[in-house]
Amino acid sequence: AFTNMVRVVEVGPRDGLQNINAVLPTGMKIKLINQLSQTGLRSIEVTSFVSPKWVPQMADSSEVYKGISKYMDVDYSVLVPNVKGLEKALSLGVKEVVIFTAATDSFTHHNTNCTIKESLRHCITIRQICKERKIRTRAVISCVAGCPYEGEVKPTKVAKVAETLLDIGCYEIGLGDTIGVATPKKMGLLFNEIRAMTGGDIWRFAVHCHDTYGQAVANIYECLRQGIRVFDSSVAGLGGCPYAPGSSGNVSTEDLVYLLHGEGMETGIDLDKLVDVGNFISEQICVPNRSKVGNACLSK
Ligand code: HMG
Ligand code: MG
Repeated sequence: AFTNMVRVVEVGPRDGLQNINAVLPTGMKIKLINQLSQTGLRSIEVTSFVSPKWVPQMADSSEVYKGISKYMDVDYSVLVPNVKGLEKALSLGVKEVVIFTAATDSFTHHNTNCTIKESLRHCITIRQICKERKIRTRAVISCVAGCPYEGEVKPTKVAKVAETLLDIGCYEIGLGDTIGVATPKKMGLLFNEIRAMTGGDIWRFAVHCHDTYGQAVANIYECLRQGIRVFDSSVAGLGGCPYAPGSSGNVSTEDLVYLLHGEGMETGIDLDKLVDVGNFISEQICVPNRSKVGNACLSK
């Protein structure tokens, strides 16, 4: 029997804000993260230490990380592409880093200017340093169901990349449907392949769904059925990847939590508080709230 405890990883401050047109003032980012910390969320991906030439929206990552209140019961992670980013993170006392790669060479090329193989070398080097320093390391693989440049992606390609990331000791691997093209059936086939690779268990996997085609909630439901108990999401459904043209934001945290609670899962999250945060940030960045639940609660 699977547990009914689910961990929600809020990625809005990073995945969400990296892709909005406006550059949000640092103080507003800090305010958002502090509010999220008070909703019962246990994991928040706060920012990324990437090249500001590539992603100008994340140029103030050090100030954001330094400025937020660190609540005892919340884990704050940051995304890093290379040793340069890791060193910045370590100098600030970051306790968890997220490394990333993809299942296709075209995507790693567009996103991080290297091949999958080179990207995995970065991951291995970063993980080695993190291991020595006892820094928790999570990994995310992009394009697990489809690639904006190569189209359909075979589950075997994903499993192969995941195997390396498991081998080097990442405590969790997030499977990213970067452009939101997966369907529940595809998710099921992907987990068949993952199970074949691990010898049956999937407890170190998480799912990171974007909602471009409106399939995220259905996909998450299928993953829940498969036994997955960790999901990434963005408050108000913010964001997308700047190097994945046409992709929209993650599944909204509000819609995810509504689904999970409806299925009898425990998240520790106060949905009303979360809805307030989603409406607050949507107003601040002047975009309509993409969460269905957020909008439904507003009009009540
Ligand atoms: P590059 O141009 O090949 O690297 O970029 P470079 O080493 O030549 O560096 C270029 C410049 O950036 C240099 O500055 C470096 O110092 C600087 P210059 O000498 O020209 O003044 N630089 C840095 N600055 C700050 N922090 C760093 C850093 N590294 C280099 N860490 C690189 C390679 C990896 C740096 C670049 O491609 C990059 O930053 N890419 C990140 C792109 C990104 O953030 N994408 C979004 C996140 S991934 C995502 O959203 C997907 C996910 O959500 C899952 C899913 O949905 O599938 C996770
Ligand atoms: Mg993403």
